[in-house]
Amino acid sequence: MIKQKEYAKRRSQLMDIAGSGSVIIVRAAAEKIRNRDAAYPYRQDSDFLYLSGFSEPEAMMVLLPQDKGGEVIMFCRERDALREMWDGPRAGTEGAVAQYGFDEAFPISEAAQRLPDLLHDRERIYHDLGKDPEFDQNLIGWLSEFKAKTRKKFLAPDEIVALDHSLHEMRLFKSRTEITAMRKSARVAEAAHRRAMQVCRPGMNEAEIHAELLHTFTSNQCEASYVPIVGGGANACVLHYISNRDTLNDGDLLLIDAGAEYDGYASDITRTFPINGKFSGPQKDLYEVVLAAQLKAIDEVREGNPWDQVHETAVRVATEGMIDLGIMTGSLEEALEEEHFKDYYVHNTGHWLGLDVHDVGEYEVDGHSRVLEPGMVLTVEPGIYIPETAMAVNEIWRGMGIRIEDNVAVTRDEADVITSGICKSIDDIEALMAS
Ligand code: GLY
Ligand code: MN
Ligand code: MN
Repeated sequence: MIKQKEYAKRRSQLMDIAGSGSVIIVRAAAEKIRNRDAAYPYRQDSDFLYLSGFSEPEAMMVLLPQDKGGEVIMFCRERDALREMWDGPRAGTEGAVAQYGFDEAFPISEAAQRLPDLLHDRERIYHDLGKDPEFDQNLIGWLSEFKAKTRKKFLAPDEIVALDHSLHEMRLFKSRTEITAMRKSARVAEAAHRRAMQVCRPGMNEAEIHAELLHTFTSNQCEASYVPIVGGGANACVLHYISNRDTLNDGDLLLIDAGAEYDGYASDITRTFPINGKFSGPQKDLYEVVLAAQLKAIDEVREGNPWDQVHETAVRVATEGMIDLGIMTGSLEEALEEEHFKDYYVHNTGHWLGLDVHDVGEYEVDGHSRVLEPGMVLTVEPGIYIPETAMAVNEIWRGMGIRIEDNVAVTRDEADVITSGICKSIDDIEALMAS
């Protein structure tokens, strides 16, 4: 568990960055209705969670930086015996102060009345516009009222600064406790993939494998960090395939992309394996190409290397492999130069990982690919997908989709593969499936 002290440290770090003339407003995610009065399971906004650890809806944090440190005010739901009987316990304003360490807390119903006072002697507001247009409208309304009244008698904010740049820079670099949470999330996802490989048999339905993944997540008190992709045969070529309702056929591969969420932190693992437990010749050949691309790319995950070097390395190895297998023709340099590989290697090789699966943080700085630094965590996930309609390719390859995805932390030394607990070599997969 991330401790109250770490959340407090994050808040003071953000207040130091914003400076004493600022006020920072961060709002909880809204509850989302699925249909009529049934809600989707609630998931807190990641920025709000990162700064508070507070997972209730209808809440707002106001950070008031001072020369040194600052004050944090939480607006949240009040205790309510009847509502708590329906929906479960609430921290209430007292609990927010006692359990979460905010300096003061007020009922969220008083936010509109109290907020203008908190803003009026500040020069700028850090806030992410766009998440809640109604609130943004109010905020802009208060600012214009201030402007009309000010006449230099008191200072009023005249600037709304996007919060995401500074906050997301902080989130990009994971602390030791965050990496520990991510390792736990990885352990659970590895167990889910292992179970899927062990139970998989021809004739089963993708839905049954989906259920096995959820069984592991739920029994470990985790959520799925995104809807799992369970794609048998050519379904693996649909990148966001989530219907997971087809029969798993003997002789096909199965691609599973599934991760757990532990304490808010995501893992994101993909494995591809033969439904009957034995890779065919062509499946082996293409799998070895993707695996070689992934291993070479992981080697590039080291301090000081630009982020896009990971992608470029994976693409080079994958393209070379596809040419060797006759899937692509022409020279390697031409295929890279003209980007012919994009017919079958369609997505990037990875993304930042953290509280969000596609986590926050810039990929470019001053027009250049970002240089990797210790504390960053990313996925490395090359994939080759040969659509069934790819008539230019020999039919033995058509309908084959292979991706291998691991989660990798940048360290001072070599890459730390935090999802190394689930096998990916052909021999290891076949041995596990036979066990
Ligand atoms: N599971 C989403 C991704 O691999 O990026
Ligand atoms: Mn994935
Ligand atoms: Mn991914």
